[in-house]
Amino acid sequence: MINIGIIGVGYWGKNLYRNFLNSQYFNLMSVADSNTMIDRQNYESANVKFSFDARDICNDPKVDAVCIATPVNTHFELAKQALENGKHVLIEKPMCLNSIECLKLIEIANKKNLVIMVDHTYLFSGGVEYIKKCIDEKKLGEICFISSIRINLGLFQQDVNVLWDLAPHDFSIINHLLGEKPDSIDAIGYSHFQNKKEDVVHVALNYKTNKKVFLQLSWMSPVKNRTMSINGSEKMLIWDDLKLEDTIKIYDSGVDQRFENDSSRFLPEYRIGDIYSPRISTSEPLSKLTKHFSDVINKKTPSIMSGEHGLGVVLMLEQAQSSLDFGLNK
Ligand SMILES: NC(=O)c1ccc[n+]([C@@H]2O[C@H](COP(=O)([O-])OP(=O)(O)OC[C@H]3O[C@@H](n4cnc5c(N)ncnc54)[C@H](O)[C@@H]3O)[C@@H](O)[C@H]2O)c1
Repeated sequence: MINIGIIGVGYWGKNLYRNFLNSQYFNLMSVADSNTMIDRQNYESANVKFSFDARDICNDPKVDAVCIATPVNTHFELAKQALENGKHVLIEKPMCLNSIECLKLIEIANKKNLVIMVDHTYLFSGGVEYIKKCIDEKKLGEICFISSIRINLGLFQQDVNVLWDLAPHDFSIINHLLGEKPDSIDAIGYSHFQNKKEDVVHVALNYKTNKKVFLQLSWMSPVKNRTMSINGSEKMLIWDDLKLEDTIKIYDSGVDQRFENDSSRFLPEYRIGDIYSPRISTSEPLSKLTKHFSDVINKKTPSIMSGEHGLGVVLMLEQAQSSLDFGLNK
């Protein structure tokens, strides 16, 4: 059993708390959160030590690993403290506020032979696991185009804009699925408020291989939507992460191009075939993630959400942010 402590038990940290508490691979020793409104009894009654000071976890020699689920602007300092004290680290997405901080954490972890992993939870969702297999087995043909919608009313973050809050999910999923990084990134955005933090952002990822990925991200939508469409040269797939059934549908549909004799007139030939909906695993991604963290610490497998994967996502966020900063919206 690996002794673990969690720093930050707000909205997302509570899910990590529940999963580490129930994990057969970890002994959840302690929790720290600076919010003095928290009732420590809730944790102490489950035999978990509680502190308002994260240093109590980072300095505890009995703790082997630390999970950090605090706001992004605190990730670097807390992870650095934990690594320097010899702890393996699982850190929330996005890994840090910039790529230099990510590189420093990876360097410390490598020097000390410790694991640093980033919680890109979606890589363990049944939907992504199925789509990855589909793409690797070329069931959709060659991937040409992906479009993703990730919109909701909020949840507004204090320290980052909607790009840094929501795009880490898509960037991580897309990098994992395609196994290649975009050549360039364009982004435009809009802020409804005086804080000038974009709450609506559209992103385009452009690939040397001619693929395109479009993302629509928003905290200002009256409805929640989590849909990804993937167009392959042979079939099309739609993943609706909010659906309990028919989460994924594969359409044996497409359009073939035909040109009329010697003219340049394009005549589309529509192919409308069967629709297939596979059964998708419904087990909780965070439960798979805790097992993966233990396997990586025990050197049974390399991580699919390593520090390098987290760094790759932050580099894409930086590229998209500079496009936003210099874009027409300013
Ligand atoms: N993987 C996912 O799907 C997912 C989903 C939501 C949020 N997140 C990530 O989780 C992180 C936290 O987001 P959230 O929505 O839970 O935020 P939150 O504000 O609800 O919770 C953060 C908690 O951290 C505590 N905290 C802040 N600074 C601290 C410090 N220095 N020491 C100890 N405690 C401290 C706060 O008191 C709060 O309870 C962010 O990085 C966010 O991007 C990930």
